[in-house]
Amino acid sequence: MAIDVRPTKDLEEFQQAFLGIGQYFGAEPNAERAERFTKNLPLERMLAALDGGRIVGGAGSFPFELAVPGGSVSCAGVTVVGVYPTHRRRGILRSMMRAQLDDVRERGEPIAALWASEESIYGRYGYGTASLTGEIALAREHNEYAHAFVPRGQVRFLTFDEALEQLPPIWDRAFERTPGMFRRARPWWEHRIVADPAERREGGGPKRFALLEVDGQAQGYAIYRHHFSFDEGSSTSRLVVNEAVAATPEATAELWRFLLDIDWTATLSADLLPIDHPLFFLLDEPRRMKFRVSDGLWVRLVDVGQALSSRSYANDRELVLDVLDSFCPWNEGRWKLAGGTCERTDDDADLRCDVSALGSVYLGGFTFGELARGLRVEELRDGGLERADAVFRRQGAGPWCPEIF
Ligand SMILES: CC(C)(COP(=O)(O)OP(=O)(O)OC[C@H]1O[C@@H](n2cnc3c(N)ncnc32)[C@H](O)[C@@H]1OP(=O)(O)O)[C@@H](O)C(=O)NCCC(=O)NCCS
Repeated sequence: MAIDVRPTKDLEEFQQAFLGIGQYFGAEPNAERAERFTKNLPLERMLAALDGGRIVGGAGSFPFELAVPGGSVSCAGVTVVGVYPTHRRRGILRSMMRAQLDDVRERGEPIAALWASEESIYGRYGYGTASLTGEIALAREHNEYAHAFVPRGQVRFLTFDEALEQLPPIWDRAFERTPGMFRRARPWWEHRIVADPAERREGGGPKRFALLEVDGQAQGYAIYRHHFSFDEGSSTSRLVVNEAVAATPEATAELWRFLLDIDWTATLSADLLPIDHPLFFLLDEPRRMKFRVSDGLWVRLVDVGQALSSRSYANDRELVLDVLDSFCPWNEGRWKLAGGTCERTDDDADLRCDVSALGSVYLGGFTFGELARGLRVEELRDGGLERADAVFRRQGAGPWCPEIF
């Protein structure tokens, strides 16, 4: 079976390739939705796998700018990867990953990132778990803060159009200090964040856009839905928070207090939270959140030298890494990191690891020491692990990607 992988040429092909994953969501081809999708994912970044001219799979990559420690970097945001059930386990995913990573390299994007539907799929292509994330379900009777809290600001609802103006600047401020967040262009806000098609409500009401202002300044926003229900005369309603982003610790506390106090909420649920969420310290009974941890963003260094030269470090000490990368052999070999620049070297290496381990440390979500204890990094020179962790030491917030893409 000869499988050909190439970019989609028109909207019809895009829809067929999209169905590679869409069908597992129960989706049907939909020209209007596909057209909207191409506003964020251009046709040429959507690869189709063809068997004798018939499309049997697809894999896309958004052109992202991803926040990393000390700055941001161009990144392929890998998305809508799927293979028709008629063609599974014949190496089509592998062919698409090959074509995609070659394409990403050619475009000069030093890293790729994705959310994995199953955690066993992407390690073989050099992706490593780069962040953890959590979901919560907090019963109203256990939602008190540990310390008295006096709100200073005011929350008001925004219309669709107001949300499009007011939310992006708050997100952009958070982007500046949070590795793992990506910039959202206007079509992204319009079609993915503020748009609220009925088929995505999952039994809930419409999205509410709540803006927190303190001293007249926008300081945070929340997007949430009510899932209304009553049982034996009492509310069993759920409040589902899609996204809550705030500019300061005080604003974060105030925004969550607003959400937690909404009447008729029996349970507040939220997912895609960072694992160091301030609620662990704000709440009097944080255990009651039933915080469930899962892998978050996965990162792949497509160009090791360029990727490692694109973030900042805690110190300028030299570090030599011996990188294994069977899927992208151009990365294999020894790399010296010194003063924030990473170049090829013949010097002896401090550590040896697969490229996926570099994906795991890249955003600051994990340390080399942690990976070594999980048998993912080998220390070749005494003190190598300690040196590496000192160089990569996290200086700001841990990684947080608040949205599955
Ligand atoms: C996941 C999916 C894309 C795999 O496609 P595929 O063409 O069957 O995969 P391939 O035949 O190329 O398999 C490549 C390798 O991955 C492995 N693999 C594929 N799917 C896997 C899975 N779900 N779990 C574990 N391993 C998997 C194969 O065993 C093979 O391993 P090997 O290269 O070491 O021999 C396909 O099953 C699918 O469309 N699933 C539903 C949608 C989905 O989950 N998409 C991913 C979104 S992030």
